[in-house]
Amino acid sequence: MSKIKPSKGSPYARIMGVGGYRPTRVVPNEVILETIDSSDEWIRSRSGIETRHWANDEETVAAMSIEASGKAIADAGISVEQIGGVIVSTVSHFKQTPAVATEIADKLGTNKAAAFDISAGCAGFGYGLTLAKGMIVEGSAEYVLVIGVERLSDLTDLEDRATAFLFGDGAGAVVVGPAKEPGIGPTVWGSEGDKSETIKQTVPWTDYRSGEVAKFPAITQEGQAVFRWAVFEMAKVAKEALDVAGITADDLDVFIPHQANERIIDSMVKTLKLPESVTVARDVRTTGNTSAASIPLAMERLLATGEAKSGDTALVIGFGAGLVYAATVVTLP
Ligand SMILES: CC(C)(COP(=O)(O)OP(=O)(O)OC[C@H]1O[C@@H](n2cnc3c(N)ncnc32)[C@H](O)[C@@H]1OP(=O)(O)O)[C@@H](O)C(=O)NCCC(=O)NCCS
Repeated sequence: MSKIKPSKGSPYARIMGVGGYRPTRVVPNEVILETIDSSDEWIRSRSGIETRHWANDEETVAAMSIEASGKAIADAGISVEQIGGVIVSTVSHFKQTPAVATEIADKLGTNKAAAFDISAGCAGFGYGLTLAKGMIVEGSAEYVLVIGVERLSDLTDLEDRATAFLFGDGAGAVVVGPAKEPGIGPTVWGSEGDKSETIKQTVPWTDYRSGEVAKFPAITQEGQAVFRWAVFEMAKVAKEALDVAGITADDLDVFIPHQANERIIDSMVKTLKLPESVTVARDVRTTGNTSAASIPLAMERLLATGEAKSGDTALVIGFGAGLVYAATVVTLP
């Protein structure tokens, strides 16, 4: 017989508020064309991207996260001391330790919230959301801040035709808290490490340090392989997330897929047979691919522009380097 008392959490969790930060510098395709042989027309037609944001020296991972989090906390209508957990998903914070989450928790003014970073590429927001829900239901935190943040411009090889135009910088944050009814469905997630070569850092930091390679590491990818995987496999994962939430495409109001490439988004919409009435996030056009930040940034924009509204039922799905993926149905804050 166990002597341990059961933990007391909330029966359910929901997203209570969302906030985003986009760096001030807007970078049009013309700037990308200075370093690769391409065209504005090619980039737009193959990826949907027209502009992206690149961070300046002051727009650090921590600074962008704090801006986005402040907005999310205000939107949630809670005080910062109530936050018991800070989860930061990023692959582009260049200081290995301590976790940037601890600095963010402190600078925001939380009361010693548990804080840690996770690395789950473009699925990072869904991974963080799932952990946050678990913490709230389990009872180790009442409110958890989930931040997706990237400075991918630091990890972009501007001479690589396959990636130079894709990536952008920014931060998105949500506050997850207790709820009386389910606000975050079961997550369908997983990893396919046998495909780890398809999106990866060119070389380990140590090869650069030792001088073995002269070029600073960057993210590289096998574009077509990733594209095929996203289009065929991720539509199945998205469908499964609807199934486990007990809804169909007809019950959905909003679809917020990872903003990787507009052609992938179009293909998923078609495969999932989403009705015309479903609002589809297309933030990639002006934000590019911001990896872990892309879903909360797109969510924030849809709510800010009125294209989506509080209480809407949304399917979110992230996928990327690993390869990893996570899909969940949520109620919008
Ligand atoms: C990157 C991507 C847009 C490239 O498009 P693609 O159609 O697969 O391009 P390919 O590499 O097959 O190249 C097709 C042609 O375009 C050319 N090309 C490649 N990159 C180019 C560029 N930046 N500008 C102009 N032409 C380019 C190639 O040389 C090739 O020309 P060819 O037919 O004369 O040989 C596409 O593969 C993609 O979106 N992949 C998924 C990327 C993604 O979302 N990653 C993140 C996941 S988290």
